[in-house]
Amino acid sequence: MKITVIGTGYVGLVTGACLAEYGNDVLCLDLDQRKIDILRAGGIPIYEPGLDDVVARNVEAGRLRFSTDIEESVAHGTVQFIAVGTPPGEDGSADLQYVTAAARNVGKYMTDYKVVVDKSTVPVGTAEKVADAIREELARRGVDVPFGVVSNPEFLKEGAAVADFMRPDRIVVGAEDERAIRIMRSIYQPFQRNHERMLVMDIRSAELTKYAANAMLATRISFMNELANLAEKLGADIELVRKGIGSDPRIGYSFLYPGCGYGGSCFPKDVKALRRTATEYGMDLQVLGAVEAVNDLQKERLLQKVVDRFGEDLRGRRFALWGLAFKPRTDDMREAPSLVIIDGLLSRGATVCAFDPVAMQEARHTLGDRIDYSVSPMGTLTDADALLIVTEWKEFQCPDFERIAATLKQPVVLDGRNLYDPAMVREYGIDYDAIGRR
Ligand code: UDX
Repeated sequence: MKITVIGTGYVGLVTGACLAEYGNDVLCLDLDQRKIDILRAGGIPIYEPGLDDVVARNVEAGRLRFSTDIEESVAHGTVQFIAVGTPPGEDGSADLQYVTAAARNVGKYMTDYKVVVDKSTVPVGTAEKVADAIREELARRGVDVPFGVVSNPEFLKEGAAVADFMRPDRIVVGAEDERAIRIMRSIYQPFQRNHERMLVMDIRSAELTKYAANAMLATRISFMNELANLAEKLGADIELVRKGIGSDPRIGYSFLYPGCGYGGSCFPKDVKALRRTATEYGMDLQVLGAVEAVNDLQKERLLQKVVDRFGEDLRGRRFALWGLAFKPRTDDMREAPSLVIIDGLLSRGATVCAFDPVAMQEARHTLGDRIDYSVSPMGTLTDADALLIVTEWKEFQCPDFERIAATLKQPVVLDGRNLYDPAMVREYGIDYDAIGRR
């Protein structure tokens, strides 16, 4: 199948590379010449484990190409995946200018039947706007070329994007055009393995499914964070409570980890956007309002623990910080709790020395020289009053506690990701505090 993917961000590049892996002839379009240059030179412009191999293999095989030429890209694919960014606007609604611009371009140049697929996370009703944009351009040209619009939201997680795409739990396809459904079925047939994973539904339900999934997951996290804070007050241990409730199959163990708040490019943005959509229809989504409010507070939780211990005035204090990315296996710092914590420490006069296994470059980009950086986790500890753990990277799981205790000015470890057994850490003479633990 000839496929065009518009936008080479996380979603676009993973979609393009993984579809090429199954023998499709894929052309990826991006208007950012820098990105296309990197891709053509065999690199990838983002950090995503395993993606470089899939891209390299398919480029080599001639099944995956990159272009900045809009006309060529429209001519190429029978299927046009729109995977451009939908950044949040001032009011929390998703900014659709790139999506509609992509649709317009398809309308401007198409000469035969196209399936236009919304892969970007877009508000309910966007598929209709995409169809309108295409129709308007066709009308402007005075031609009538058939097309189908499909909503096919992506559920991939950063850091596990290739695996998520290759082994999906479900493939949601919102479509009302039989021809388009047939084409989507043939593209996704190799991903179905032993089970039927494709759920065909009407377009609006597909669009809402994406938001509902992320909102549900964000709700679980905020719920657990609030309970963790309560557990601290009650003298209960949230880790035991987590296991206690997760063992109920109706609840399950996933996404019940309390911590210093959720970040990233999806949960914060999608929760906001869904609330915003509801407001447009005269509804206030109260549960999600609370989910957001709890998350904003939770990002301050470690900071609160610092202030409780060292006071509001942190001048002359120095803090070691492990983990800058919003979660492990990514260099993405969008909406990362580390940013809130660092801001809070700096504004109270403290200095910060941080380490992250892959997000250091990204951090320098975002934070510049407002903080110090170390090339190793242990290097951050020199002269520090306490260690703050913000991201649960594997390499932080079994550190040399003796050395931590000996290097810190005061052996205080504030763990925002509940990595250790408190009793074990305390044996090293470390004053250890985590989220919701006894
Ligand atoms: C998420 C969804 O999981 C994915 O399906 C969707 O397509 C995009 O949004 P992602 O943002 O990559 O993926 O990260 P995810 O692994 O879901 O984590 C999001 C945030 O929640 C992170 O900050 C993480 O630290 C936090 N989290 C996750 C918790 O605090 N506790 C948990 O139990 C799980």
